[in-house]
Amino acid sequence: MSSKYYFVCKNCGQKIENFNQWFKHGQKCPNCGKNFVDTKYTTDPKKLKDLIFTKDTVKSLWHYFDFLPLNDQNNIVSAGEGVSPVSRWDFLEDFAKKYYNKNLKVYVMRHNFNDATRTFKDIAGTLAASVLKECGVKEYAVASTGNTANAFSHYLAKAGVSLYVFMPEDAVKENIASVSAYGQKAVICKGDYAFAKKIAGEFTAKNNIIMTIGNTDPLRVESKKTWVYEWLRLTGEIPTVYLQALSGGTGPIAVDKALNELEPLGLVSHRPRYISVQPSLCDPMTQAWNKAKANNFPEGWQNDFPKLQNPATKVQTLATGVPGTYPIIADLTKKSNGEIISFDESKINKIARLIAFKTLEKIGPASAICMGGYFESLQKGLLKDGDVVMINMGEGIERASFFLSELAYNYDTVSSSDEIKKFNRADIEEQLWRDIIEK
Ligand SMILES: Cc1ncc(COP(=O)(O)O)c(C=O)c1O
Ligand SMILES: [Zn+2]
Repeated sequence: MSSKYYFVCKNCGQKIENFNQWFKHGQKCPNCGKNFVDTKYTTDPKKLKDLIFTKDTVKSLWHYFDFLPLNDQNNIVSAGEGVSPVSRWDFLEDFAKKYYNKNLKVYVMRHNFNDATRTFKDIAGTLAASVLKECGVKEYAVASTGNTANAFSHYLAKAGVSLYVFMPEDAVKENIASVSAYGQKAVICKGDYAFAKKIAGEFTAKNNIIMTIGNTDPLRVESKKTWVYEWLRLTGEIPTVYLQALSGGTGPIAVDKALNELEPLGLVSHRPRYISVQPSLCDPMTQAWNKAKANNFPEGWQNDFPKLQNPATKVQTLATGVPGTYPIIADLTKKSNGEIISFDESKINKIARLIAFKTLEKIGPASAICMGGYFESLQKGLLKDGDVVMINMGEGIERASFFLSELAYNYDTVSSSDEIKKFNRADIEEQLWRDIIEK
């Protein structure tokens, strides 16, 4: 069967026919050895416009099959993921108006509705499982701090692929349980995420097992690019600010890829500023960015970043201490006039309580970092009057029950009914906002 997609090496322009060839060459360009490729499609690009502005009901990201790197629809392994609601959260807009006199439009993309594992990694899971099925791959490996581990475990189980998941020592216990409950293998490496990646690399090389190449992996980038298609389908506009919690940076890379596809179709009148948010106890990219900014971006600044050993963050999904993708993220951020910031992770329970109060949705810790980044951006003056902000909230609370227990606050423990203090919700709300303002 001829392939409807191919890869082009971003470094030297070499063409690679399809995933079979890509895997055969060790997921590297056969000419220059680099592993960052652009995925191209032979489908008429105008079809993308029709798919986005469809009147049909969209059931999963496979609506965009023509612009995903899979040749045969029979190989699709799906659980109805990728049609995440995008909502206007007016209480965030009201806050910006009241305290900063900024008129903003604030959209939130909420992946906690994905049917498989309730994070935005489900869309990478469905694409990976489908491609591996198409290529007849039976064993695969990922190193992951949590959400990818879980999503890939789910989808690859569905495709009958044996998955090795390499996790850092302090991985959340539920993740280990969840991976192995699917019958996949969790390998807990006695060290941090960077160490887990090293062990994974050694094991897969010795045993000739294909392993994800990480944040630039076309399996991840091509799935996540569909977010932008969905923004256009659901809101009719491209935001002026894209806000996301940052670990390795697949998100901004994927958004950029989508915009590159959509621009020639006349659908991109402007590019969003990328504002990426790291947890304060694992923020190597923020540190590197601040240093570069302070020194006026000297020659080679993109390659100057710290390598944090055993980062102490409790937000394990964002625990990339050695950010190998910084050079890419740094360039994207600068080109977009964006920012890389940190959010004080001791405050994330307060953020999540406020969100749960206002929306009745319980968000996970990485999402709380992202939401915290919204308030931080306002305080730092990074959002401008008239901005359209897209907050990509990556996970629901299901992924981290330890965090759910931290959200408890309005309770009494009593031995008689006289000890119960009465309350009203208006006071609770006032306190929640005070916690944000007095941050
Ligand atoms: C919920 C959530 N938010 C944000 C991120 C960061 O994603 P990225 O790879 O784009 O840095 C992840 C995964 O690492 C995640 O699971
Ligand atoms: Zn090359």
